Amino acid sequence: MPGKIILGAQWGDEGKGKFIDIFAAKADLVVRSQGGNNAGHTVVVDGAKYKLQLIPSGILYPACTNIIGPGVVVDPRSLLKEIDTLTAQGVSVDKLFIDARCHCILPWHLELDALSEKARGGDDIGTTKKGIGPTYMDKAERIGVRMHDFVGKNFEHVMRDACGRKNRVIIGAYDGQPVDIEETLAEYKEYAERLRSHVVDTTVMTWDAVKNGKFVLFEGAQGTLLDLDMGTYPYVTSSHPIAGGCCVGSGVGPTAITDIMGIFKSYTTRVGKGPFPTELFDKTGDYIRNAGGEFGTVTGRPRRTGWFDAVIARYAVRVNGLTEMVINKIDPLRGLDKLKVCVAYDYKGQRITEFPPNFADLEDCTPIYEEFDGFDEDITSCRTYDELPDAVKAYINALENICGCKVSMLGVGPARDQVIVL
Ligand code: GDP
Ligand code: IMO
Ligand code: MG
Repeated sequence: MPGKIILGAQWGDEGKGKFIDIFAAKADLVVRSQGGNNAGHTVVVDGAKYKLQLIPSGILYPACTNIIGPGVVVDPRSLLKEIDTLTAQGVSVDKLFIDARCHCILPWHLELDALSEKARGGDDIGTTKKGIGPTYMDKAERIGVRMHDFVGKNFEHVMRDACGRKNRVIIGAYDGQPVDIEETLAEYKEYAERLRSHVVDTTVMTWDAVKNGKFVLFEGAQGTLLDLDMGTYPYVTSSHPIAGGCCVGSGVGPTAITDIMGIFKSYTTRVGKGPFPTELFDKTGDYIRNAGGEFGTVTGRPRRTGWFDAVIARYAVRVNGLTEMVINKIDPLRGLDKLKVCVAYDYKGQRITEFPPNFADLEDCTPIYEEFDGFDEDITSCRTYDELPDAVKAYINALENICGCKVSMLGVGPARDQVIVL
């Protein structure tokens, strides 16, 4: 049985949630391995919309075990809110497990995320302000609060120690308002009690599933270009959304992975700041934003929109070792006269086809486009390749050839069944 990774191959929000949901129906285990509640995955089932941030999408299937792996950062308050919302929607969280090694996002991390963004002035990253960066910083500095500490008997001592240390930074570095430890202890003690029964060593469960030939699905969050090392640094997140990050963050070796599916939109979007060579500032960009409903799931921010960038796509194929591509959200392109694909960049008069490591160089890159015919037909009820208009077929075939990777599925609408298997 496969160990399948489904990951974001652009700047996030590619529609991973929908595909993870489709494969979760057959999975024994769904594992999140990085990021936190900065992710926002939308799953539409029978007209009902589920917005998942930290909880793996397999939660919608009662038979599926859901794991928040060691590489994830967990905000206990936000997680419990998500649990309460799902429970009210009739979804059971009995099969949700959190690794004891996960680092906790605590009130001082939220405060520091906001303060550090403010201190950057116009050079802010445009983070989701969920405390992701400051929590991973504490982890790397080896001063973080892990889940086993949070639900353990030294809760109060560990929390007081961490709060005191971070309040010195909040006051000393930013002249900010210190976090009230007594209030925090009172609030978070209850969270620790509620979460305790979910906290285990998930790596044993994941390994057992792999060893016994179960179908293990690794649920990616964010996207390749937001990877701390491989993305458009410093306009990235603080974890590793690329395929390699799945092993580190779930505690399994690379031999557990058999398939790596990269999800792409048929165009490109980005939230937050940072370079975006094919960004559109004209009415075509607005058209795609409105047609695709491109407004953030987590922050509600309008997403920046642009044409499909095959330089980035080929980079994603390479750094993730993709075995298949999914082209999602094709339906929003309906009604455009021409579709453009960036096949290379013009960098100071030179044609380059590899994504540059220095984002400053990217700002001097002008896209070189190939043009394709648009389509006017409503494709949202197409369920086979043959039903698609010729122009859509030509566009998909071109993307497959330009990117050098097999396209295995297409997305033509937000619902679970609005996909085409090739
Ligand atoms: P994720 O973070 O990658 O899971 O993606 P998000 O859920 O943040 O954003 C994708 C949005 O597009 C959600 O509102 C989905 O319901 C929606 N969506 C997913 N697939 C399709 C599709 O094929 N067509 C259209 N029109 N919308 C889609
Ligand atoms: P999903 O899983 C899109 C972006 C933020 C910001 C940068 C750093 O829904 O695809 P952070 O709060 O992580 O420190 O912010 O990363 N970002 C995302 N953009 N989709 C996401 O997740 C994202 N998670 C973080 O907008 O630019
Ligand atoms: Mg999202």
